[in-house]
Formats: sequence, C-alpha cells, structure tokens
Amino acid sequence: MRKAIVYASVHHGNTEKLVKGIAEECQVDLIDAVKQPDADLNSYDMIGFASGIYFSKFHRSILEFAEKNLPDDKKIFLICTYGGSANYKSIERILDKKHASVVGKFGCKGYDTFGPFKLVGGIAKGHPNEEDMKNAVDFVKGLH
Ligand SMILES: Cc1cc2nc3c(=O)[nH]c(=O)nc-3n(C[C@H](O)[C@H](O)[C@H](O)COP(=O)(O)O)c2cc1C
Repeated sequence: MRKAIVYASVHHGNTEKLVKGIAEECQVDLIDAVKQPDADLNSYDMIGFASGIYFSKFHRSILEFAEKNLPDDKKIFLICTYGGSANYKSIERILDKKHASVVGKFGCKGYDTFGPFKLVGGIAKGHPNEEDMKNAVDFVKGLH
C-alpha cells in the first residue's frame, strides 16, 4: 500500500519533526505543501495531512493543497501539533466535499511561542517529545 503525508510546518518545525520520525520507521513519502503545492496524489492508496494548528485551522497551504490536488474517494489520516488543542474541522470540511474516508486522527502538543506565550518562554516546550514521536509512529503503523 502506497502512503504519502502532505505536511506544513511553519512555526517551530514541530510537525516536520513528527512526520520525519514517522518516515524513518514507516514506508511513506513526504510532501511539503509549502514547497510542492502541486504534487500528484493519484497513485497513493492512503494520504495523510499533517499540520500545526494556526488560528484553529490546518495551515492554509494544506487546505489549498487538498482543495486542488486531492482526488475523490481517497483514504485519509490526519495529524496535527498544537499549543492548546487539536482542531480538524478546517480540513474535514474539504475532505467531505471529496468523499474521503478518514481512517484515523492523531494530535500532540507542539512548542508554541506565538503572541503572548513568547513572554513566558512559550508553552508545550520540548514537544513533540520522544513519547509523542513513538505514539505517532504507532498510530501510522496501525492504519489499514
Ligand atoms: C500564528 C500562530 C497561530 C497559532 N494558533 C493556534 C491555535 O489556534 N490553537 C493552538 O492550539 N495552537 C496554535 N498555535 C500553536 C501551534 O499550533 C503549535 O506551536 C504547532 O506545534 C506549530 O507547528 P509547526 O512548528 O509544525 O508549525 C499557533 C501558532 C502560531 C505561530
């Protein structure tokens, strides 16, 4: 089964750390949605979208990528890193339109120094940590 993860990681590289850790342990192609906004997903059996959460949404580059390049009727999994809480609604709205089936979701904390959090040295410092990385790998290994 061919798997790809399309990701965006623009704040501290938290999401990138996670997906690179996954790619070391699992057979998966990584696509950076910021650098490759037009990749062809037709040949993949399962596609992951991974992003930090910015103003309660997946990164704009992911949402635009999915709108433009996601074929209908694909199996999808979702990964996010967040300072406060996970939120999958922005991408799920697009997935609904594409008749995608979401086979799993994984989220964990990611170091966040946005806005006022900078003044206190940031929140979720050290995340994703080793345990987060292991959980993410187990999550992807368990997808069918
Ligand atoms: C502009 C901006 C907006 C953010 N908005 C949210 C938010 O609404 N909810 C939340 O839980 N975290 C928010 N965060 C924290 C990020 O989701 C978190 O640090 C994430 O791990 C960043 O991933 P990245 O390093 O892969 O970009 C925000 C961070 C930035 C820079």
